[in-house]
Amino acid sequence: MAKTKGSLNLLKNKAKKEIDSAKDLKDLDLIYKTYLGDESELAQILRSLKDLSKKKKAKIGKEANELKNFLKIKFTEAAAALKEKAEKEKEMKEWFDITVPGKKAVSGHLHPITLVRRKTEEVFQSMGFSVIEGPEMEEEWYNFDALNIPKNHPARDLWDTFYLKNGLLLRTHTSPVQIRYMEKNQPPLRIIVPGRCFRHEATDFSHEINFYHVEGLMVGEGISVANFKAIIEEFFRKFFGKPMEIRFRPSYFPFVEPGFEIDMKWNNEWLEMMGAGMVHPNVFKNAGLPPHQINGGGWQGFAFGIGLERLAMIKYKVEDIRLFYGGDLKFLNQF
Ligand code: DAH
Repeated sequence: MAKTKGSLNLLKNKAKKEIDSAKDLKDLDLIYKTYLGDESELAQILRSLKDLSKKKKAKIGKEANELKNFLKIKFTEAAAALKEKAEKEKEMKEWFDITVPGKKAVSGHLHPITLVRRKTEEVFQSMGFSVIEGPEMEEEWYNFDALNIPKNHPARDLWDTFYLKNGLLLRTHTSPVQIRYMEKNQPPLRIIVPGRCFRHEATDFSHEINFYHVEGLMVGEGISVANFKAIIEEFFRKFFGKPMEIRFRPSYFPFVEPGFEIDMKWNNEWLEMMGAGMVHPNVFKNAGLPPHQINGGGWQGFAFGIGLERLAMIKYKVEDIRLFYGGDLKFLNQF
């Protein structure tokens, strides 16, 4: 299968053309195999040299080897060029202008209720209270019975709620955590329980079906209303940044005895701020603790419940509670 110089030339031209038109390195590799691989025409020519006459062998052998070397160099050059081209393209794709001014990320901010909750927690923590949580889905026992509100007691009307198919209800206050906490912890104790509460009632500027309460509880040996007054005055002072005038009004809550409402002087008017009272003996009993005895022993303490929305409305001069949950950015962005 002797080849003439003509056919080697043809091969050379064909190979050159294909090498020059290779699009990328993968392409080039295929072309390499076609022209310099084991099965290539050139390899076959080189293999068949041994069958030729000495003279032809010398001539064709020289030409075939020259072609082989030529192609090798050509491939090396083409590979280098293609590699450079690929790198340039990659650079172009990845390039970006570091001098272009950036886009400013819009940073969020805390909801007013969160701000007020955090401040409240901070103030009570500074007075030795722990922040405790409880379930939003509550058992009837903890939300009502254990707090001295038996079935059919008219006080349940005040706390109408959503009863769930699983037998639980949405808690109407965080007061049930009093019981849950006292079941597991012995006095002396000081806790506050901030949390979401629910009521089944019509909404208006001061009522929502969803709101936040902070329950407070302090129990010890001789804890009295005087202690409560000192604590709550200190809370208002720190929360509003100045001493606030307050007054106690008799009131009724089944879980305290006596019970009262705390009013605060604000713009020359008395504003109702929270409910409170001395923990009812039945509440202690339901939590498994002995209540205070006239002849010694047992525990006593105070409890209170304050609405975070009420605090936020006063602090930020908001007149409609519904604004807190409306999701209106015109309102929220002011905080
Ligand atoms: N749980 C009451 C409410 O839902 C608030 C409250 C009033 C809590 C008096 C108390 C309390 O601990 O003593 O409105």
